[in-house]
Amino acid sequence: MPKKVKKTPIVVSIINLKGGVGKTTIAALLARDAASKGLKVLAVDIDPQSNLSQSLLTENEYKEFMEQDGLSIVELLNGYKPPSQQHLAPTKIDENQCATTSWF
Ligand SMILES: Nc1ncnc2c1ncn2[C@@H]1O[C@H](COP(=O)(O)OP(=O)(O)OP(=O)(O)O)[C@@H](O)[C@H]1O
Ligand SMILES: [Mg+2]
Repeated sequence: MPKKVKKTPIVVSIINLKGGVGKTTIAALLARDAASKGLKVLAVDIDPQSNLSQSLLTENEYKEFMEQDGLSIVELLNGYKPPSQQHLAPTKIDENQCATTSWF
């Protein structure tokens, strides 16, 4: 009888103190490659610029993403949006607001 192997998630972190050296590019390529091999992948993007999320969106999702007034991860974690031209005071965020992708 085959022994049951407990599957535990593999965590991959791409770390380098320098900026612009390819951390996000490597993370996106690893995520795509693992997903293409049938693995379930969760890509965690906590960069307010959301480059990783954008690189994993389809063309249509990217267009939709650019048209919406989405939240950055910083705003989501803080629970409010900073003042803007439309809202002169900080705006409380509905905690159900978040960006999703169907790429995987
Ligand atoms: N192997 C590579 N060859 C050539 N260009 C690359 C390579 N890897 C990444 N780049 C390019 O270098 C630039 C920076 O890459 P990337 O955004 O992945 O870096 P980063 O380390 O995540 O940057 P940041 O610190 O700003 O988050 C991008 O324009 C990307 O397309
Ligand atoms: Mg990056």
